[in-house]
Amino acid sequence: MPIYLDNAATSFPKPSQVTEAVERTLRLNAANPGRGGHQLSLEAGRLVMECRETVARFFGIGDETRIAFTANATEAINLGLFGVLQPGDRVVTTSMEHNAVIRPLRALTQQGVDVVRVMADSFGFVDPAAIQQACLSGTRLLIVNHCSNVTGTLQAIEEIGPWCRKQGIIFMVDAAQSAGIFPIDVEEMAIDLLAVPGHKSLLGPPGTGFLYVRQGLNLRPLLYGGTGNFSQSESQPLEMPERLESGTLNTIGLAGLKAGIEFLEAIGLDHVQAHDQELLGQLIDGLSSLEGVTLYGPLGSEWHGGAISFNIKNIDAAMLGFRLDREYGICCRVGLHCAPVAHDTIGTLPEGTVRLSPGYFNTTDDIEQTLTALRTIIATES
Ligand SMILES: Cc1ncc(COP(=O)(O)O)c(C=O)c1O
Repeated sequence: MPIYLDNAATSFPKPSQVTEAVERTLRLNAANPGRGGHQLSLEAGRLVMECRETVARFFGIGDETRIAFTANATEAINLGLFGVLQPGDRVVTTSMEHNAVIRPLRALTQQGVDVVRVMADSFGFVDPAAIQQACLSGTRLLIVNHCSNVTGTLQAIEEIGPWCRKQGIIFMVDAAQSAGIFPIDVEEMAIDLLAVPGHKSLLGPPGTGFLYVRQGLNLRPLLYGGTGNFSQSESQPLEMPERLESGTLNTIGLAGLKAGIEFLEAIGLDHVQAHDQELLGQLIDGLSSLEGVTLYGPLGSEWHGGAISFNIKNIDAAMLGFRLDREYGICCRVGLHCAPVAHDTIGTLPEGTVRLSPGYFNTTDDIEQTLTALRTIIATES
């Protein structure tokens, strides 16, 4: 069995409860939710509603109808940005964003939206004071990546959100790397739009994700179409979540997502986070002791989680990733991780870095084997 250290891309393996929920739903009830009055459709609708309630409970969302299910975080981010921003609007963002944010913003720039980017420091941390400074003149929306997929740097969203609320700026968080490791409460953090994938640390299947939309914010849909209700009208319903959820939902995936979140609730997020910190700490200690290794990010501080990036002197990152995979069965990700500006910020363009992202099911033994493999590669390459 390979050692999988690419959980920042998607989590693997999934808890057996997730596999069983997906299999059970596909076998017993894959009817179309909300599209019929028969018992199987009603039951599928109930399952979707239960998943919505589970997501709401986990993220401190008071009204579960404010959650729109999507296929992944990218769709959720696009839905939020294109749903809110109009020509002439000003949006502030950071230099640590993923292409899932950079590219829609680039497309919106071409439609007349003004985009301002706040630079992070070389650890990937964006100073909240710099964000506040950049937000001052008539900003409509601020979008911040909670946890970097390159350096694992956490941003102080609990500080930024309440400030935005006071200023009347819409605060949008890309929680692709933090949801399921770090606690997120949309009320406490004053988050207006929260984009989350279901398939990463929430441990659900691919094809799942959601956007939370704060009460009072009315978004333009990305997709228009059938919602299973208000069928007499030729216009898209105004009601949430139907307004943002056209077409058949991924009931099977949502059954798995519900099981993934319930798994996390049962073991406790503090335990998940402690395990993440333990493995990252072991990686940082081990990598620091290896010859020629440069580590990136805020390393082991309270602002670090999820992933670690590094390079080894005179060893090409792509070659290192290839050798780890082929010779040692260790799966990692190398290159730019779809975040070129973040690499520019930490000084690793154009080659990028080697990224190791342990997940809940990795063990200290996996990390030890990885460090041993790296030690051997360094010895043979030098
Ligand atoms: C920070 C960040 N945002 C957005 C995404 C996009 O997530 P998804 O693959 O679910 O669309 C990723 C994916 O790795 C990410 O790391």
